[in-house]
Amino acid sequence: MEPMTIRSLFPTLVYSRRLQESDWRSFNHRLLRECQQLEHDDDAGRRWSEKNYPGGYTSYNSASRMHELSPTFDRLRQAIDRHVKSFARSLEFDLQGRELVMTDCWVNVMPQHVVHGLHLHPLSTISGTYYVQTPKGSPGLKFEDPRLDRFMAAPPRKADSRPESRSWVVLPAEAGNLVLFESWLRHEVPANQTKKRRISVSFNYSWF
Ligand code: NI
Repeated sequence: MEPMTIRSLFPTLVYSRRLQESDWRSFNHRLLRECQQLEHDDDAGRRWSEKNYPGGYTSYNSASRMHELSPTFDRLRQAIDRHVKSFARSLEFDLQGRELVMTDCWVNVMPQHVVHGLHLHPLSTISGTYYVQTPKGSPGLKFEDPRLDRFMAAPPRKADSRPESRSWVVLPAEAGNLVLFESWLRHEVPANQTKKRRISVSFNYSWF
């Protein structure tokens, strides 16, 4: 047999797992109620969202450190910490004795027709989202190949190609699930076509 000559270099890793195996429903329910309460109470955030997140609500600019304000969000932070450690091992980060620490944690509410356009999370190391409420048919998280701007005469990929060969990949959003990625990886949430609200908690980790 000939030796293997095709290598996969420079992979882009994305982590997706249940936040916790047991007891997640009651925890998730508490988190959902706090997200709804925050949206109700956060006048500044709703005003900011009117301009910057049309049709939706985000506490990104008003209550962006929820893990420091609420014991429920802090419990979420503790659970995510374990997943971030595991993801950092898969990425083979040499953290040099420093730690990955949650710096921001905010709520996103997407009613019908709301879109979250392409973006990345500058000044952070690891970012991600925990899904709180995901109505059937609500949009997933769409990642873009970070090398896209270098592809010049590159032919498109076959429609049935493997996910790792595609230029865009959508990871479905499912309540109770967590997604982690390196903060430089561009992503978006396509329009919510369902009548129900899609609710998530997003966060950043930095390296201290
Ligand atoms: Ni994002």
